[in-house]
Amino acid sequence: MSLPAWALVSPERRAHIERVVALLKSWADAMHVDPQDQGRWLRAGWLHDALRDAPLPDPLAHGPAAADRAAAEGERDRGVLDAVRFHTIGSPDWDDVGRMLYLADFLEPGRDFASAERTELARRVPTERDAVLREVARRRLEWVVRSGWPLPHETVDFWNQLAGRP
Ligand SMILES: [Fe+2]
Ligand SMILES: [Fe+2]
Repeated sequence: MSLPAWALVSPERRAHIERVVALLKSWADAMHVDPQDQGRWLRAGWLHDALRDAPLPDPLAHGPAAADRAAAEGERDRGVLDAVRFHTIGSPDWDDVGRMLYLADFLEPGRDFASAERTELARRVPTERDAVLREVARRRLEWVVRSGWPLPHETVDFWNQLAGRP
């Protein structure tokens, strides 16, 4: 797969998406993920920001919009669709596809903050996935809280799941 034909992305966004997919591929190889699951991870990577530069009322709408469009175009995998739908906020109902995409979206090397720390976290993913996931979620939640924005209930439930509270 590559970027879907219906994607609306700037060149910079396309480059981000390509880095996310490359990181997912490197983790899938290092973790010896079977080809079918690897394909699911990579589809989620290609789809997640496909409508990020489309005219939408709210930046948080680009995940649900891409999931709806992918479903309309024939994507049937619930794990892939939920990974795309909730990639900005997290979800307690994710399988590995959602978790890996959430990690790759934050840890891809093109972002211009905390690059040494993020490189180290990315390196640890194949052997310490769950510990890195908690750390990435903690950083992302801290940023939302510091910004004064409300936390979607999916985010709270996701965090409580990671922190060991069902
Ligand atoms: Fe996004
Ligand atoms: Fe992204």
